[in-house]
Amino acid sequence: MKERIEELRRLINQYNIEYHSLDKPTVSDAEYDKLMRELIGLEEEFPQYMDSNSPTQRVGGAILDEFTKVQHKRKMMSLGNVFNKEELFAWAKRITDEVGLVEFCAECKIDGLAMSIEYRNGQFVQAVTRGDGEVGEDVTLNVKTIKSIPMNIPYKEEVEIRGEVYMPKASFESLNELRRAKDEQEFANPRNAAAGSIRQLDSSVAASRKLNAFWYHVPDGETYDLSTHYESLMWIKDMGFVVNENTTLFTRIEDVWDFIERMTIERNNLPYEIDGIVIKVNDFSIQDRLGYTVKVPKWAIAYKFPAEEAVTLLEDIFITVGRTGKATPNAKLTPVRLAGTTVAAATLHNEDMILQKDVRIGDMVIIHKAGDIIPEVIGSVVEKRDGSQIPYIFPTTCPDCGMPLHRFTDEAAHYCVNSNCPARIVNSIAHFASRDAMNIDGLGEKKVEQFHKAGWLNKVDDIFKLESHRDDILALDKFGLKSYDNLIEAVENCKSNPLDKLLFGLGIRQVGAKASRILANHFKTMDALINAKVEELVTIDDIGDITADAIVTYFSEDATIRLIDNLKDSGVNMNQGSDTVIESCFTGKVIVLTGSLQRFSRSEAQEYLEKHGATVTGSVSKKTDLVIYGEAAGSKLEKANTLGIEIMSEDEFMKIIEGEVSND
Ligand code: IVH
Repeated sequence: MKERIEELRRLINQYNIEYHSLDKPTVSDAEYDKLMRELIGLEEEFPQYMDSNSPTQRVGGAILDEFTKVQHKRKMMSLGNVFNKEELFAWAKRITDEVGLVEFCAECKIDGLAMSIEYRNGQFVQAVTRGDGEVGEDVTLNVKTIKSIPMNIPYKEEVEIRGEVYMPKASFESLNELRRAKDEQEFANPRNAAAGSIRQLDSSVAASRKLNAFWYHVPDGETYDLSTHYESLMWIKDMGFVVNENTTLFTRIEDVWDFIERMTIERNNLPYEIDGIVIKVNDFSIQDRLGYTVKVPKWAIAYKFPAEEAVTLLEDIFITVGRTGKATPNAKLTPVRLAGTTVAAATLHNEDMILQKDVRIGDMVIIHKAGDIIPEVIGSVVEKRDGSQIPYIFPTTCPDCGMPLHRFTDEAAHYCVNSNCPARIVNSIAHFASRDAMNIDGLGEKKVEQFHKAGWLNKVDDIFKLESHRDDILALDKFGLKSYDNLIEAVENCKSNPLDKLLFGLGIRQVGAKASRILANHFKTMDALINAKVEELVTIDDIGDITADAIVTYFSEDATIRLIDNLKDSGVNMNQGSDTVIESCFTGKVIVLTGSLQRFSRSEAQEYLEKHGATVTGSVSKKTDLVIYGEAAGSKLEKANTLGIEIMSEDEFMKIIEGEVSND
């Protein structure tokens, strides 16, 4: 009977590997169940042949009081991080400077929890969490329930294998669905769910959680006669361990970067979460030469995908007053990395939002950044409260001018209604000078504020009188002759900007950069627009009632006409030249720009595309023909990918532009 029991165990183990690791089952579920039932029956009948590694023992059931602490034989290190191309290339350069050219192995950074498993005599004996790297917890019973992990391997000496236990996206979704139905708190993400499952004292709960694992590291690989990391992965793969299928060797770091860019998109289609790409020097002897710092290996690095959500401390709330007088509450945050940048402030939108989300000063808050939009606070982590948090009371006066803040009925926003409020003046002048408007280099918010305080800038048209304050400006601390000359030249140059830039700069309510272009292209001259009636305006595509009203109201004010006259007198251009379209591969296409472009501003790229006959829109839909993406591109790129829309990296876009220039 012992023979039959062993035969059944061997068969079931083999079918487990075929099904869970190789994704190639060779028997039906019914046949598998039949063998399993037979084995359970025999083990009950002949308890003397029981084995803790029998496939029947993988359904869990044992309940522990606590996890035993286990000292790792070899420290479980973490990895150093890089967040962009420059940092990755700098890491690679440090390596090649030290040891010459190397081969890199790039692999997915699985977002789960690190695990060390040990085999003796070809038998699975123990699974230990990473813990603090020195001491972890014995979670053998729970890890045993992961069906893709072999319980028996052909290698008979002692061997430790490391990898990541994770929860597949599908298991995570169905687990949370179940928890919702039971009114239980949902898990925030698959990693937390996997960690929570592995820390279950009742192994049948862990078994129900449908975890899985990838294996990516054999410590002291040389002891098994292996000479490269990739060889070690193939070795364990042959023994039945699941090795991630995206693992690839490269000799050039440029190609590693291409792989990272590809995986940044591809990760959305993977059935498990990855939070980056790990790059390892392949050759063990070179790994040894490079060695370790106190904390991390020097021969490996983790490139982290830009996180789109982060948790940090909300230290305070402060109000900023915009050019329209709108008073926006903002969170002052303990700086945190988010979507590729460091974020120290985020918008809280308005008073209602703070109340609805119950955000308090001193809260740990979740912040979110979608694409290129400014970061916002999406909520507090209520569990982290310790009683010291203070609810925010919206101020009744403007922090800049001290005049009352007013909240109109039906509006969520507060406004400073003082049209002489310095914050309003400074912001409207800074907006006029900003890159997408009149593009006056050297006249940013700080300078405008300084000049306003000195009394030289009170209205937009004062910009063109700055020359009369030459000596005073030059007397300012840190304002050299060169900066002054550059500023005056930028002011002079902006006078010839096309009408749409001027319109946008004026900051007419409801009229953004796009509407400004539409209006300028339609009316061609400022005077024609000033005289336009609502009836005519609403016939223009994309100009609705509200915008039309706002335009007519704006031009009906005396102050506006005075301002325009002054600008005319200063020599500011009031016309839109007729644009002739340059035929190119972009002509006639609907294009979306996303992510942060490194070599041009968003508006420069848009201008280029529009000159070449493309329509640039803000959101990806079925009508989109092409998405051009820069660094840290997020949901728009994902959507393009899901809809099967053509995508183009900034590098490829550059090549086309350069090609065109050199063809000229
Ligand atoms: S290698 C000495 N490879 O990322 C080598 N780690 O931030 C140590 N991780 O603690 C790890 N996928 O939990 C390695 N393909 C991969 C990985 C990976 C995920 C985790 C691991 C590690 C953490 C470091």
